[in-house]
Amino acid sequence: MSATKRRGIVLAGGTGSRLLPTTRSISKQLLPVYDKPMIYYPLSVLMLADITEILIITRPEERHLFERLLGDGAQWGLRLDYATQDAPRGIAEAFIIGEKFLDGAPVAMVLGDNIFYGEGLGRTLRRAGRAGDPAAIFAYYVQNPRDYGVVEFDADGAVRSIEEKPSQPRSSYAVTGLYFYDERAPAMARALKPSARGEIEITDLNRRYLDEGVLKVHVLGRGAAWLDMGTHDSLLEAGNYVATIERRQGLKIACPEEIAFRRGLIGLDQLRALAEAMGQTDYGRYLLALTEESRTYLSDEIEASPRFVKPR
Ligand code: DAU
Repeated sequence: MSATKRRGIVLAGGTGSRLLPTTRSISKQLLPVYDKPMIYYPLSVLMLADITEILIITRPEERHLFERLLGDGAQWGLRLDYATQDAPRGIAEAFIIGEKFLDGAPVAMVLGDNIFYGEGLGRTLRRAGRAGDPAAIFAYYVQNPRDYGVVEFDADGAVRSIEEKPSQPRSSYAVTGLYFYDERAPAMARALKPSARGEIEITDLNRRYLDEGVLKVHVLGRGAAWLDMGTHDSLLEAGNYVATIERRQGLKIACPEEIAFRRGLIGLDQLRALAEAMGQTDYGRYLLALTEESRTYLSDEIEASPRFVKPR
């Protein structure tokens, strides 16, 4: 495994054309998904994976909005940087845009419109990151594999093929928008030729690693939730999903302040300051309650922050 700490990228560009007219004046990844902006969800995924240096790639015209929302990340114990993509030339272009930022480090990239949620997800991601595979991706069983990259396994569970939006999918396993690569990702992305639709395809990059025999595919089980939010219906469904779970438990999904606190990136005083800055909002009250020990629960993040977990 590389000695350099893995860095992250959130890809939050694209035209958002399927969400017009809403996305005419605002980036999709800034839209609310129930109680927080969409980008909080993928950003939280990287934080759970223990990644603290993160590049946010946006359209040029909206970069300042993301900067206003997230700043330099210090408030959450992160180091955030920004870069722009002036046209959607493909998901794999993120590694070329991010080459300087990555500076030879391995990378975890997440699409800015993906939600991952489920028991033990943080541990799964950290384990995947630590395993040192040159490339690791995550597959999820779906009803509509034609809409995604699709990965096919042989009887032993080894990866046999990977195809982008096949008309005749060879399996029901979609490739999710979370990708871990070694330090060669920028150079390998540069070597890719644009596809028929003119994009540098992430699936082609995955195929390169597959051809080398080093593509690891982690299957996210049926107890996990993976949602993307590219259409009006999927955006509403994601919001309803988050609302249902959060109202039931009184615990938030993808709250960066909470993750930063539980992962030890910020302390109690900073959490309290963030809560107070939020005023008398539900979100602010939630953060404030986290500072009180009575709100602790048996967390799967136990390894990071045992002092905030009450044993049963
Ligand atoms: O969500 C997972 C799927 O994401 C994978 O299964 C597919 O293999 C992968 O190609 C991708 O498919 P999509 O149809 O969702 O790709 P889309 O073009 O919609 O891009 C996904 C997100 O990335 C979207 O929010 C916009 C952003 N994007 C996309 C491209 C092509 C960029 O920021 N820049 C780009 O150049």
